[in-house]
Amino acid sequence: MKTKITELFSIEYPIIQGGMHHVGFAELAAAVSNAGGLGIITGLTQRTPDDLAAEIRRCREMTDKPFGVNLTFLPTVNPPDYPGYIRAIVEGRVKVVETAGNNPQRYVAALKEAGVKVIHKCTSVRHALKAESIGCDAVSVDGFECGGHPGEDDVPNFILLPRAAGALKIPFVASGGMADGRSLAAALSLGADGINMGTRFIATREAPVHQNVKQAIVAATELDTRLVMRPLRNTERVLRNAAVDRLLEKERLLGTDIRFEDIVDEVAGVYPRVMKEGALDAGAWSCGMVVGLIHDVPTVKELIDRIVSEATEIIRGRLVRIVA
Ligand SMILES: Cc1cc2nc3c(=O)[nH]c(=O)nc-3n(C[C@H](O)[C@H](O)[C@H](O)COP(=O)(O)O)c2cc1C
Repeated sequence: MKTKITELFSIEYPIIQGGMHHVGFAELAAAVSNAGGLGIITGLTQRTPDDLAAEIRRCREMTDKPFGVNLTFLPTVNPPDYPGYIRAIVEGRVKVVETAGNNPQRYVAALKEAGVKVIHKCTSVRHALKAESIGCDAVSVDGFECGGHPGEDDVPNFILLPRAAGALKIPFVASGGMADGRSLAAALSLGADGINMGTRFIATREAPVHQNVKQAIVAATELDTRLVMRPLRNTERVLRNAAVDRLLEKERLLGTDIRFEDIVDEVAGVYPRVMKEGALDAGAWSCGMVVGLIHDVPTVKELIDRIVSEATEIIRGRLVRIVA
């Protein structure tokens, strides 16, 4: 497959694995890159820049294909050592960074000077245009259905992607709700140059997470996600569980008076407990509506090969027959 995204990142297929806290370790990133996509290590899951440097070395031992690092810019009082993480990325000769969260403007120049390509993940056309204007090479456009933080505009991909296609000059990938060859063919039809997937990649053999998480994803339907932290304007789409129900009840009772401190038990320090220990009810963890389309736990290579062959059959077969 050849799109602006495969060319930009020197990859075989336009399929990216988005950064995922406590999921995006070297094992998953290397598996995705080895299968012809772009694997991404989640930078902030590594506690220090030195840890990230070690994770990059580990990934390089597992693949000689290009892979990236996700840097999520959080709205926090005590920001992580972003310059240190960027140094680890540059010194590790990583060629792609997926930025997400706040505007990455302060760091884009340093990355670009070092020859790193920047793909910024955002949830609106205005933020995508901003990313384009500050020099990002591509964007990942995350629709309302996505796992993680869908923003506050609630625009689903059937509207967001063609809007992005009409407005942007730089290439973009469709993110949120992508699971299979139908998703890829649809994303390309809507003007995207590829897809970014989160939730789907968790239910793969190589994803270094507890079996309980993979089973929960396979068992869940598209009705099982909830939006939390909306009153804090930090909306996150998560899989429903006992902690999420508790959190939503607090939101209902406290209304606009709710503060982060009120929900610490449900959201802080949750990821290692869920992903490593398999304690599914430990708190709120990101998950997309796409769970409704996930029914198995293939290897990453099986998944990517299947997506590519399905999309090819749709494009060459079904769509051609319809207009023939
Ligand atoms: C468990 C989980 C953790 C995530 N953590 C991050 C993160 O740390 N940084 C980030 O930019 N995106 C994160 N995301 C979002 C994904 O990179 C991706 O944009 C999203 O999952 C796409 O939607 P999908 O799940 O429908 O494929 C996370 C998603 C999931 C499911």
